[in-house]
Amino acid sequence: MNFELKSLEPAGAAAQPCDALVVLVPAGYKPGKDAFSALVAQALKAGDLETKAGKLLALYRPAQAKGTRVMLVGVGDGSPREVRLAVNAALGALRSGTPALKKLLLSFAGTPLAGAVRAAVQTVADNSYVYTTTKSKAEGRSLARVTVAVAQAAGCKDEFARATAAVAGIELAKEWANRPANHATPTHLAEAARALARHPKISCQVLGPREVAKLKMGAFMAVAQGSEQPLRFIVLQYQGAPKAQAPTVLVGKGISFDTGGISIKPAAEMDEMKFDMSGAASVLGVFRALGELKPAVNVVGLIPSCENMPDGRAVKPGDVVTSMSGQTIEILNTDAEGRLVLCDALSYAERYQPQAVVDIATLTGACVIALGGVRSGLFSTSDELAHQLHQAGDAAQDLCWRMPLDEDYAEGLKSNFADVGNVAGRAGGAITAAKFLQRFTAKFPWAHLDIAGTAWKSGAAKGATGRPVGLLLEYLVAQQAQRPAAQRARKA
Ligand code: BES
Ligand code: MN
Ligand code: ZN
Repeated sequence: MNFELKSLEPAGAAAQPCDALVVLVPAGYKPGKDAFSALVAQALKAGDLETKAGKLLALYRPAQAKGTRVMLVGVGDGSPREVRLAVNAALGALRSGTPALKKLLLSFAGTPLAGAVRAAVQTVADNSYVYTTTKSKAEGRSLARVTVAVAQAAGCKDEFARATAAVAGIELAKEWANRPANHATPTHLAEAARALARHPKISCQVLGPREVAKLKMGAFMAVAQGSEQPLRFIVLQYQGAPKAQAPTVLVGKGISFDTGGISIKPAAEMDEMKFDMSGAASVLGVFRALGELKPAVNVVGLIPSCENMPDGRAVKPGDVVTSMSGQTIEILNTDAEGRLVLCDALSYAERYQPQAVVDIATLTGACVIALGGVRSGLFSTSDELAHQLHQAGDAAQDLCWRMPLDEDYAEGLKSNFADVGNVAGRAGGAITAAKFLQRFTAKFPWAHLDIAGTAWKSGAAKGATGRPVGLLLEYLVAQQAQRPAAQRARKA
């Protein structure tokens, strides 16, 4: 799908041929004097068009516009959230029409608020995305060209570029998360990472079972040992700034399928555990977006990837393994495997002397209970890092919410047979999982995003969301804005 940004008032947009023109009309909008604006003014005055977000007025080939179908839609206060509501409503109504929409013109009436153009672009992409990879009669997305029209394009240029880069990343993340586990093995994920490294600023290294054994990643290996699929430890590097600049490390949980292992899961909805590599997919997506946007930052992506399977060789409840950090772990529940692959990846991250490490994981069902599908769980040992991630989530409309890490929550992880157990009780399950990870993060500022509730949707709309690529990209790009200022201050 091809996006372009143009300087056009609604009247100018109405003069362009397209399959559909969608005009976003905010509360208090004062239409101009041209013929198209007069039509909008008349509809507002008559009460046929309301400016409440998502209220629609559909027109067919009106004399005042060149588009086949014209949809006037209220955007309320014009905030990113209301823009999302409005665009979803308009596209939903247009979708029911035949023929399929190929060329869309989206016109902002009035000056868009900060974040509104980004919300519009991302909503159009999200709404028109179609998964095709494993369907024999692939009918993909029909929408091919989207023009975003604002009165002054120059003011929205950066935001627009960020949005289209985010879309590329989100769609890559969706693609890999959506692929069934037999089409998205650890080896396949490693190939996807290698393909990203065709970009001049991105490099990739893939470690297999032998290299991982040499690193003594005993926790990661314990999860992988029940599967016929060999594990992969994927290392991606994006270099957009001088080498001396400490990188941010992203660690993505890459369980390509989570049966639970010997502590096997119930059958209902087990298919959804193909999404258990959504953290890994988001890391791939971020690198894709970095390649498009080329910000002046350094980023390392680490993906520990394997299947969690029950088998004669599988790890058993009660087994004790030694992690890369040297800490021994009693694996009381083999279904708490995410923290086991992540803890060794976190130890590996130390070698980069990172300025921050952020792990992204579909870690706990408890986080789904706590926050549902609206906000990802955010845990951090650094107030500054937590604040930056929270802000990035707000800016990108990819929300998160900070959760506590009080030491008292670690009580239940005590083991009689190892340094730590891999599970505590049912209470506060998202937090106790984070407390387990925290034991491996003493050497750097760290944050953990539990995306179990936000990475995919269940039911009729079953599918990956591509979250939290938007949040992560925004966080990384915002660093670029801060760093030069900090460096200047240091030099002075
Ligand atoms: N991948 C799951 C977490 C999950 C469950 C995500 C449901 C989305 C929906 C994870 O590996 C897991 O199984 N966690 C267990 C931990 C428990 C055994 C302490 C869980 O949440 O039940
Ligand atoms: Mn599990
Ligand atoms: Zn899992």
